[in-house]
Amino acid sequence: KPLRIDVFPSAPIADVSPLIFSGFIEHLGRCIYGGILPSTRTTFPYTPRNPCPQDQFVETPKELLTAEGFRKDVLEVIRDELKVPMMRWPGGNYVSSYHWEDGVGPKEQRKRRPELAWGFEESNEFGTDEFIAWCRQARCEPYICLNMGTGTLAEALHWVEYCNGTGDTYYANLRRRNAGRDEPHNVKYWGLGNEVWGPWQVGQQTAPDYAEKARRWAHAIKLIDPSVKLVACGETGLDQWDSTVLDVLVDKVDLHSIHLYTGFGPRDRSQQEKEYGRSVYGPDAAEYSLEIARGLINKARVAKQIQKPIKIAFDEWGVWDETVGTAENGLEQFYNFADALAMASWLNVFVRQSDLVDIACLAQSVNVISPLITSPTGVLKQTLYYPLYLFSNYMRGGTAVKVQIDSPVFTGETLPAWISSIKGPPRHLDVSAVLHGGTSLRIAEVEVHELWHPDVKVRNGWGKDEVTVRSSKSSWKSEWTFKEHSFTLLVLDI
Ligand code: AHR
Repeated sequence: KPLRIDVFPSAPIADVSPLIFSGFIEHLGRCIYGGILPSTRTTFPYTPRNPCPQDQFVETPKELLTAEGFRKDVLEVIRDELKVPMMRWPGGNYVSSYHWEDGVGPKEQRKRRPELAWGFEESNEFGTDEFIAWCRQARCEPYICLNMGTGTLAEALHWVEYCNGTGDTYYANLRRRNAGRDEPHNVKYWGLGNEVWGPWQVGQQTAPDYAEKARRWAHAIKLIDPSVKLVACGETGLDQWDSTVLDVLVDKVDLHSIHLYTGFGPRDRSQQEKEYGRSVYGPDAAEYSLEIARGLINKARVAKQIQKPIKIAFDEWGVWDETVGTAENGLEQFYNFADALAMASWLNVFVRQSDLVDIACLAQSVNVISPLITSPTGVLKQTLYYPLYLFSNYMRGGTAVKVQIDSPVFTGETLPAWISSIKGPPRHLDVSAVLHGGTSLRIAEVEVHELWHPDVKVRNGWGKDEVTVRSSKSSWKSEWTFKEHSFTLLVLDI
């Protein structure tokens, strides 16, 4: 029996925020050193925790770098192909023991520090001014996460003053000296800590303790710069932590963050057959998290009579099998075609939830659980790259509209199973729709962009692009045949 998709152009959800295509770079593995800057110590496939023998180290040639020393290839893919509009930095777990003053000023005077989150050493060669310089080149809005682990409020205020101060004050002048320009860095988005709830975090706190502290910080930060947007540290959107934090912070912050990854592999490797379901249908649980977070936000707004909407910053999302991408290998993971389908489903979720999700930062943008893997001289586009490319290029700048799907459901195991058992199983067909321009339905022509491979386990390798987009044109049909386990993006020229 044919399945049915109904798209309702006259039922808008909200404009799709361009910031749902944002990224994240953390001082972890080869993300910064090897991805943003060339590595000076280790060469693919080695990582800081597993360094390469001296005689195997390959330097990145100078002509592959910008005048500032950034990798041109990564910068170009992020700016010109994926069109990433915002970048979150410096962590992640890393930020919870990061002291920003270690990373500014003359490079030869910067302190080399032990790194506590991932167990390596940090040279501090890449700090605030380098991040801003990179963002300018990449045309990304900077989004800085504050250290609420070992950091103090005074330090955070100094960081905001350093970035945004326009007066004749110490840290604003320090920035002018270091960056060699008068204009402020103008960092609008600031995160109030990272995963402060996690036992792995340096400086883990309870929800009430964190919420009270973040309230004090938010108040003070808005005194230094009332124009900033503050992001509260949430958990997965449906946890008690989210509820407590929202109740206390709803009147002090602009966004509430969520972190969720799909694709966590079974620890028992004999269960690998279940990977397809866990990976591809995992984002369904993320949508449920968002629906619950929406309720928690509105509950907190009603209690405090807050008119202004609080949006979600899904500031870490992605596909990560933590038994494969480990601290030892710098969280470098090779993705298969099924993972690309999961990626498409994740992006469908953000489009469908456009009225709630303002920011989504893919974790991470290069090398670390990323669509992009670098060698000293090139970039490998993993399977994940392609759905991201299609969504970022075709689904932004429009209005998400309601879609109704009639489809059988997936009855296998998904992750986390307990969520599925309450929510109900995910459907085989997963669809989102964006309307650009008017609502006329005279369809002239259809561009068809298809992502498919007969083997869901196939991966892209160096010089071996097994998975790429196949694009063609078609006239309009009311019946379409989609290949099994495929992703198709239809652009209707109306
Ligand atoms: O993205 C990798 C890690 O995942 C981040 O450092 C942390 O915030 C999350 O647990």
